[in-house]
Amino acid sequence: MLIGVPREIKPDEHRVALTPAGTEALTAAGHQVLIEADAGLGSGFTDDFYAAAGAEGLASADDIWSRAEMILKVKEPIEPEWPKIREGQVLFTYLHLASSLKLTEALCASGAVAIAYETVELPDRELPLLTPMSEVAGRMAVQEGAKYLERHAGGRGVLLGGVPGVLPGKVVILGGGVVGMNAALTAAGLGATVALLDVSLQRLRYLAGIMPANVNLLFSTRYAIRKQIRDADLVIGAVLLHGAKAPSLIVEDDLKTMKPGSVIVDVAVDQGGCVDTIRPTTHGDPIYTVHGVIHYGVANMPGGVPRTSTLALTNATLPYVLMLADLGWRSACLRDPALALGVNIVDGRVTYPGVAEALSLDYSDVQAFLTPPAQE
Ligand SMILES: NC(=O)c1ccc[n+]([C@@H]2O[C@H](COP(=O)([O-])OP(=O)(O)OC[C@H]3O[C@@H](n4cnc5c(N)ncnc54)[C@H](O)[C@@H]3O)[C@@H](O)[C@H]2O)c1
Repeated sequence: MLIGVPREIKPDEHRVALTPAGTEALTAAGHQVLIEADAGLGSGFTDDFYAAAGAEGLASADDIWSRAEMILKVKEPIEPEWPKIREGQVLFTYLHLASSLKLTEALCASGAVAIAYETVELPDRELPLLTPMSEVAGRMAVQEGAKYLERHAGGRGVLLGGVPGVLPGKVVILGGGVVGMNAALTAAGLGATVALLDVSLQRLRYLAGIMPANVNLLFSTRYAIRKQIRDADLVIGAVLLHGAKAPSLIVEDDLKTMKPGSVIVDVAVDQGGCVDTIRPTTHGDPIYTVHGVIHYGVANMPGGVPRTSTLALTNATLPYVLMLADLGWRSACLRDPALALGVNIVDGRVTYPGVAEALSLDYSDVQAFLTPPAQE
């Protein structure tokens, strides 16, 4: 298959959808890779690396879009890219269509097959192409929190790990899923005292088996949260209610009980946040202060570490990319139901129920499109 990788043009996006290692794997399997000049630079991969791995470099994005049978991207196509998408072309990327009617309409009009990373779903409900970004965000939440706890950054001047003779800092984590678990392991590794709260007893029991002794596991109630945040240095919001806005767990009055110069990193800000006073911020201007508490609300945290994020994302996407390239999208989806759940648009029809429902559009079952035509 002829696979195209354009450079990401959305502002502040420095990830790339394929690494040189992925290029080598695809070319070894008999596929051809076209990559736009400088596509990997933001993640530290120069054009030479791709050429050595067997890719053909092209100067213009137009050439990639017009030749490739499958386009690999990281972010959803933005408006200047919409006219380039071709009928029958497979587009494999993050799409988040439920929040964009205009993009959904553009993809329907293109006649392309749009497969969204974020809706590929395993039988146990894990979202394997979102998990790596939650791992990055969870670990990064502690790193960012530690940074803003420094005095010159406005924080209370606490070193999370302490030193011999001085108590470590206290980190409170709301939610023990992928983000929360990664944040807890990172904070505990630094030597901080950690309190991790979740509403799922099953999840708490699992975490009890893998967490070090400096992580205390608590059932999440308003009462417990109020009590824990009072002496916290860093609070990390890491809750998720599938398909819904994050629950409100910290209200404005609670901030007045917290220590001045403490930090809240609300990773759940992309789902509205679990702290009432959080609002989305950017890597360029990440924090603001309310009642003396520093708020960090960057909605695309993995974008701050594009090299790690590119490697983490492509480790997860490559097996699906290889399957799509080897078998064609129909046979790949017939073989792997998790991938079939990723298909959001085929032939101008919305094939993901959540998107159709959110945008009040007609829904078509993807299975109806999966019978391979004679040429596949
Ligand atoms: N800001 C970013 O850059 C970024 C990056 C990745 C993920 N996220 C977001 O981080 C959030 C967490 O993602 P995840 O992958 O860890 O989700 P997850 O589903 O793995 O975990 C969520 C956890 O929250 C728990 N929970 C639900 N309600 C709770 C409550 N009231 N109190 C305590 N715990 C509660 C659940 O039981 C679950 O264990 C999501 O909103 C996700 O979109 C943001």
